[in-house]
Amino acid sequence: MFLTVERQTSPKAIPLDLFTAITDLKKELNTVILAHYYQDPDLQDIADYIGDSLGLSQAAASCQADTIVFLGVHFMAETAKILNPDKLVLLPDLNAGCSLADSCPPDRFAEFKAKHPDHLVISYINCSAEIKALSDIICTSSNAVAIVNQIPKDRPIIFAPDRNLGRYVMEQTGRDLLLWDGACMVHEIFSERKLVELKLNYPEADIIAHPECEANVLRHADYIGSTTGLLKYVQKSDRQEFIVVTESGVIHQMQKSTPFKKFIPAPPTSNCACNECPYMRLNTLEKVYLTMKNRSPEIILNEPIRQAALKPMLKMLEMSV
Ligand code: 13P
Ligand code: SF4
Repeated sequence: MFLTVERQTSPKAIPLDLFTAITDLKKELNTVILAHYYQDPDLQDIADYIGDSLGLSQAAASCQADTIVFLGVHFMAETAKILNPDKLVLLPDLNAGCSLADSCPPDRFAEFKAKHPDHLVISYINCSAEIKALSDIICTSSNAVAIVNQIPKDRPIIFAPDRNLGRYVMEQTGRDLLLWDGACMVHEIFSERKLVELKLNYPEADIIAHPECEANVLRHADYIGSTTGLLKYVQKSDRQEFIVVTESGVIHQMQKSTPFKKFIPAPPTSNCACNECPYMRLNTLEKVYLTMKNRSPEIILNEPIRQAALKPMLKMLEMSV
């Protein structure tokens, strides 16, 4: 029996012990909870699986549960639904969008694609189902270089929507990609000047960065990788200090797995907490509980779009083994 508090803002009764309540609902609904590393630490702690975008897609593709509760942003939950049309896919806050996905509206992208009919379209997974449906192959930050390397050298490629990841892939592969001009507001906010100053204070620290950052920041990095790549790097490294240039939520698993190492979040240009993704952080433990209790909000997709988006997703999974 839970003690409950009635909230003026919500007619629902919220149990005080949300961890226990969510664990009970998990069994009741035969649910798996998938969480991205950018979620609040307490949300990561209730998840069955925590991962980067590729790991989460693979977990969704092999999921046996009836219900998936996705702790991440909309395009991630949508991806889980693309792969699991018959499962109930729940996202605690439907407003958890993504500035990068928003920077690529489907109508404008369709026009852009039509101007380059000979190009293969490789889209970063941080995009809407409509953009996926217009793509030939999806990639994530952990497999973008490997996927582009598998395409014959004479085949021209459109890379969308992240210009920073696209430019990084161009450097790594030596290929000329036609880039869509999108970006992530969180990764564009890091200040090169402040990063250099921080490195002077921590000369022994390795700088580790996500490829969504701008080139002037990435040039200072000792290691560049996806969130899972960054986590594995700190686990294997002999270094004791790391300056982490990505959304600060990833530090939770770094600290848990290597408690004696020091992690310093890289500073944004202003004194805001802009290295926290405002969309990711819309999900809360209370919302997770209410979502599971009400079995809503649910991700619903237009079936022709889902089927068209599934093809490039399956292509990515096939090219990532
Ligand atoms: P990864 O999950 O591939 O590391 O990408 C991070 C990100 O920006 C997700 O929105
Ligand atoms: Fe989108 Fe950037 Fe947030 Fe990732 S960190 S979900 S790319 S806004």
